[in-house]
Amino acid sequence: MPKSLQEQIDACPYWYHRIELPDGIVTPGWAPIAPDAYAIPEDMTGMRVLDVGAWDGYWTFEALRRGADEVLAIENFSDLIDPQWEAGHRTWRTFDLCRDALGYSKEICRREAVSLYDVTKERFGEFDVVFFFGTLYHCRYPLLALDTLSKVCRQMIFVESATCNRVSGHRGQGEGYPDSRHVVAEFFPQGTFNQLTNWWVPTLSCMAMMMKTAGWPTVVAWELTDTPSDIPECRGHARGSKYQSVQDKREEGHTGLSYSLHEPASKRMDTRRLDKPEEQKVSEP
Ligand SMILES: C[S@@+](CC[C@H](N)C(=O)[O-])C[C@H]1O[C@@H](n2cnc3c(N)ncnc32)[C@H](O)[C@@H]1O
Repeated sequence: MPKSLQEQIDACPYWYHRIELPDGIVTPGWAPIAPDAYAIPEDMTGMRVLDVGAWDGYWTFEALRRGADEVLAIENFSDLIDPQWEAGHRTWRTFDLCRDALGYSKEICRREAVSLYDVTKERFGEFDVVFFFGTLYHCRYPLLALDTLSKVCRQMIFVESATCNRVSGHRGQGEGYPDSRHVVAEFFPQGTFNQLTNWWVPTLSCMAMMMKTAGWPTVVAWELTDTPSDIPECRGHARGSKYQSVQDKREEGHTGLSYSLHEPASKRMDTRRLDKPEEQKVSEP
């Protein structure tokens, strides 16, 4: 007898994402902890989207739910959860299970096992929007990663990353770099920040400046919370746009290095978990 959806979900050894499926079934992951903080567009009608490091596919399915025409989910499965488990290799099993349950075709909900460094316009075409969530700090070459994504991005990138504004992986809780003038990234060789695949943890300013350097001249960035209770809550978000308004350009001055700090536009923020960051303009570093 074929297994029920719930039985197939239960048979998967690990779920990262909490994904709502038909008939009230929800996958038993824990991420994302605050989806509204990502502030992706409510309406993504007609967009072609690249979801980098898609894992179980929460953000891929979210883009399609919001009207995207097509999403390409990419993964290289480098972020191992438990080396003992399935010989340390994750697969598309959880993603495919959700894709089938949600009824998306392989054409509009495509997935490829490819490293982000190997994404080219010739191979995959261009994307209106790139999601780059939870993956920047897993990159050995973060600026090359952003440069590569910029070449295939027509409009906007949304980035989410571990940040070191409030917590330093080297110095501890409350010992980060809260000042926006700290354009800093901490380096973690050989698993010194929880796991082997964590390499560089930037400050919010550093992340924003990297995005600008890679080709998104307008960057708005915000912290998940300025009072994280632990490392998992010390995260930053940013939205980069290929277009720059005259106002942006004027405020930026001649260095081209300023960015603005905002709370995300979303009104559905879960304020039980998130402190509302104050809106402020960041001066040039
Ligand atoms: C912490 S998870 C984030 C998952 C999802 N994007 C999210 O934020 O909910 C990071 C994911 O990026 C993947 N990854 C790491 N390096 C990658 C690379 N160079 N190319 C593609 N995927 C990568 C990992 O295998 C892992 O699934």
